[in-house]
Amino acid sequence: SQCNLGEPWRVQMNADIRKAAAAHPELNVIFKDAQNDTLKQRSQIEEFINSGADLLIVSPKEAAPLTPPVAAAFKKGIPVIVLDRKVLGGDFTQFIGADNRKIGRSAGEWMVRRLLDLPAVKARGRARVVELKGLMTSTPGQDRNAGFREALQGKPVDVIFQADMKWLEPEARREMESALAVYKDIDLVYAHNDPGAHGAYLAAKAAGREKSLLFVGIDALAQEGQVYVRQGLLAASFEYPTGGAEAIASALKLLRGEIVPKEITLKSRVFTKANVAAGGEWLP
Ligand code: FRU
Repeated sequence: SQCNLGEPWRVQMNADIRKAAAAHPELNVIFKDAQNDTLKQRSQIEEFINSGADLLIVSPKEAAPLTPPVAAAFKKGIPVIVLDRKVLGGDFTQFIGADNRKIGRSAGEWMVRRLLDLPAVKARGRARVVELKGLMTSTPGQDRNAGFREALQGKPVDVIFQADMKWLEPEARREMESALAVYKDIDLVYAHNDPGAHGAYLAAKAAGREKSLLFVGIDALAQEGQVYVRQGLLAASFEYPTGGAEAIASALKLLRGEIVPKEITLKSRVFTKANVAAGGEWLP
């Protein structure tokens, strides 16, 4: 159950699942795309339960509304692997994802260092940042915000504009147009995903201001964020692995009746112009 296929990252997740499953002809993976509609995702999970699925992999759009159908499957004895965004409580078999709070904090620490080095910031004494948040009813949005704010504590960095762009590039672009209209001095945009960072870049470019500020995003897909970093559009992108291959590895174990850990935390790398050619650098 995929919450949407609008972003390249989710297309990649499904491709990773398909690829890992292809090596196991005994697996038949049925994909459903909820098209970013929570109610549709709820009913699709119910359909899977009723159709007698042996195991569910769910990447939920929002935490609270997707908790009941996931719990219902789990309570019926269907193993449920929750991927990337979390549900509430513990009624699922396994969660797989990277540590978004840590990614947000590492991104924040990286941005503080970079900002304090900018001549404009040195002259002004404080940095001015825009934060374009992922959907705040989903856990990665909440955690990428919380970790980032932790890193800013006590630092001369002000978030002068923030908005929920719901993970969507066109929303990010619109929000950034508003920020640019109001603020003449912006040093950096922190977007919770690369489509958001790219949307902000396009807004700045249309205003002829893209060279006067830095853009930082999250996901760092080889065909998306890493390319933006190499092209110099993004100053940095933090990797958010899809977990697709790990989900299939866990599914095989569960279908054989093995016990798996409640949570698998995936590692993440940072990509910058200096390290992208070498494959990025692992977060500590
Ligand atoms: C895709 C996406 C990614 C992001 C993830 C968070 O829908 O927005 O860009 O990293 O979801 O759940």
